[in-house]
Amino acid sequence: MIFVTGGAGFIGSNFVLDWLAQSGEGIVNVDKLTYAGNLDNLVSLQGDARHHFVRGDICDGDAMLALLEQYRPRALVHFAAESHVDRSIHSPSAFITTNVSGTFALLEAARAYWNTLTGREKDEFRFVHISTDEVYGSLGENDAPFTEMTAYAPNSPYSASKASSDHLVRAYFHTYGLPTITTNCSNNYGPYQFPEKLIPLVMANALAGKPLPIYGDGGQVRDWLYVSDHCAAVRRALEAGRPGEVYNVGGWNEMKNIDVVRTLCAILDELRPAPGRSYASQVRFVADRPGHDRRYAVDAGKIERELGWKPVETFDTGIRKTVQWYLDHQDWVANVQSGAYLSWVEQNYAKREAS
Ligand code: NAD
Ligand code: DAU
Repeated sequence: MIFVTGGAGFIGSNFVLDWLAQSGEGIVNVDKLTYAGNLDNLVSLQGDARHHFVRGDICDGDAMLALLEQYRPRALVHFAAESHVDRSIHSPSAFITTNVSGTFALLEAARAYWNTLTGREKDEFRFVHISTDEVYGSLGENDAPFTEMTAYAPNSPYSASKASSDHLVRAYFHTYGLPTITTNCSNNYGPYQFPEKLIPLVMANALAGKPLPIYGDGGQVRDWLYVSDHCAAVRRALEAGRPGEVYNVGGWNEMKNIDVVRTLCAILDELRPAPGRSYASQVRFVADRPGHDRRYAVDAGKIERELGWKPVETFDTGIRKTVQWYLDHQDWVANVQSGAYLSWVEQNYAKREAS
């Protein structure tokens, strides 16, 4: 079986569901169930003997090692993290704890377990670390997209914590020979994304008749990838990636935030029209995110050439599926908009003046 961390979060749960839909191989899924972890995402796996869920904290290295010794996985795929940039600006501490110290504790546990393996089991073990394009910093309008050779220049507490974890993973390969692979992916969207992130937040607010907050001038550029394409890239990296290598993953799909929001509004106008108005009338420009990176763009040429991975969805097909999923799963959205979520909304948005 394989060992997954953070498999109750957005990308992790999509990965677990896709994996079990395509493979007979079991998963032990270790997740702390922070505000971002949600077992509702995995409800379709109830009674599936291939899925072993364990509530656990990656910072607890002894517990991680005990689980590795108990389940004896052939690979570890590490998604668990604090993942939201705005939260990292308000409260960076949890980002250092989980993303830096937690990854360190997990690497130590993986190294101890891997050292007990012999022969093919040892050679074929993989530690796949899921990281982000944000570690490369911000691009100018005419700069070439990030490659695996781009120097790290993280600008937020979140991206700095992910960059630190990437460096630790790299060091465990070089120093101890632990067979690690790192993937650095661009912005994901799709089912089960927590409505603190731009796309699900805009959909939830649009349908609730609330303002659609655009930070700054809305001209920031992100590269967007449908989540199942990211999951396929991770499977491919696990299957055929070379130990010690880094693979950038992206959708070749750069868009300004304001254009993403306008696209969402246009699809909602078509699928769930609001009487007498367009959802775009709810757009509000608000105070910018401090240190906001202007542009990310990913050159995914290496994973395409070396591992034969390519995204299946275009933004047009992926965003339509995503909007339809949220319209069909309003109960899921309502369930995650708990008391804790509402206090986050108050903290992040109440003091942003309209600009
Ligand atoms: P998420 O916030 O939706 O999920 C994170 C999961 O990790 C949650 O289930 C949470 O409970 C769990 N977790 C947090 N701290 C933990 C701990 N100490 N021990 C065990 N579990 C813990 O995040 P996501 O958007 O699914 O991102 C998953 C990974 O992919 C992260 O490493 C993130 O940096 C990376 N990534 C995300 C994106 C994106 O667009 N969302 C893009 C590139 C890379
Ligand atoms: O690039 C990959 C990263 O993408 C991942 O590593 C992160 O885990 C993930 O959260 C995401 O980070 P972003 O900061 O790009 O995602 P977010 O959805 O928070 O914001 C996307 C863009 O939209 C960003 O430029 C900020 C802007 N934004 C966001 C929110 C929540 C707004 O304009 N208004 C908002 O209310």
